Amino acid sequence: MARNTYGLDLGSYEIKVYDKKKDVIWKEKNVIAIKEKRDIYAVGDDAYRMYEKTPDSIEVLFPMKEGVITGITNMQFLLQNLIKGEKQFAHGSEYVVAVPTDVTKVQKKAFFDLVIHSTARAKEVNIVERSIADAIGMNIDARNTKGIFIANFGGETTELSVLAGGGMILNRLLPIGGRTYDEAIITLIRNSHDFLIGRHTAEALRRRFEIFKADSDAAFMVSGRDLITGVPMQKAISINLVRAAIRDPLMECIQAISLLMDRTPPEVRNEIHKNGLFLTGGVANTADMDKYIEKNVGIRTSTAIEPEFCSINGLKKIMMSKELRQLAFSMLDDKYRWME
Ligand SMILES: Nc1ncnc2c1ncn2[C@@H]1O[C@H](COP(=O)(O)OP(=O)(O)OP(=O)(O)O)[C@@H](O)[C@H]1O
Ligand SMILES: [Mg+2]
Repeated sequence: MARNTYGLDLGSYEIKVYDKKKDVIWKEKNVIAIKEKRDIYAVGDDAYRMYEKTPDSIEVLFPMKEGVITGITNMQFLLQNLIKGEKQFAHGSEYVVAVPTDVTKVQKKAFFDLVIHSTARAKEVNIVERSIADAIGMNIDARNTKGIFIANFGGETTELSVLAGGGMILNRLLPIGGRTYDEAIITLIRNSHDFLIGRHTAEALRRRFEIFKADSDAAFMVSGRDLITGVPMQKAISINLVRAAIRDPLMECIQAISLLMDRTPPEVRNEIHKNGLFLTGGVANTADMDKYIEKNVGIRTSTAIEPEFCSINGLKKIMMSKELRQLAFSMLDDKYRWME
């Protein structure tokens, strides 16, 4: 059995994998469907499609919540099945895993345990802080920058980081992401229209509307259930309702960016004003989100190319380059700062 090296960016919404041997990056939804509480029924994108549509005997589970692993056994099953599906699964592989910074030691160690104690029986596990991977993914010299700000707008988290002087100087993980916006949309539609829509529908609405663009009277027909009659039907939902729903959680992220800037030493803050604020993560695909953030925080803002793949692209570059490899730490290292 040949040994392989995998890069892993485990997101609450999607898992991104870099397979070094095949030199490919792929992603799958971070979802597993279990039948009668024990058999794996479906994994990844197939399991996601079943969400809110399955009979009672099938449970659709999300093994991560707000950026951390909450169901390690399910996460192991899922990962093994996805990697096995690629017919590349091999014992004794190496893993380079992107991890969030602002989490507990136990939560961080779970990323390590996931591959070391599973049947994957990793030979070596190295971790990279996600914002560092994001910077490398955007070709930013993370080791020499005098100041940049990265905001990763993900599926269940928003991770804010200030990088300067060879490392990360400030980091904050907010439990706000695409799912928070979608739940806010569901709640507002329920309260204002007595109409219940599913999570997929809310996500589709958020993604189809160009919420940051000027056009303000668009509307889409969506399927749901009338809560008074109980009858499934379609209703028109306006872009303004979606905007109103996402406003509070989005403003919370924007305020957190400003707060982190206030805590940044003045010389680094000046550098950030010169170099800019960079958006990564899937939600950053939303058209003109960078313009909206730039207007609200007053820092020149740009979006990474394919922002949801930015961290995994960074991991790939780190894995390929001897020099950048130094940005990956072993969790077995005595000096590892989260394990002391
Ligand atoms: N084109 C798009 N427009 C708007 N939103 C999008 C688009 N593509 C993806 N998203 C949203 O991006 C989110 C997923 O982003 P990403 O893959 O970065 O999250 P994740 O890494 O799985 O989650 P996290 O980092 O929070 O644990 C989802 O909420 C999804 O709806
Ligand atoms: Mg992510």
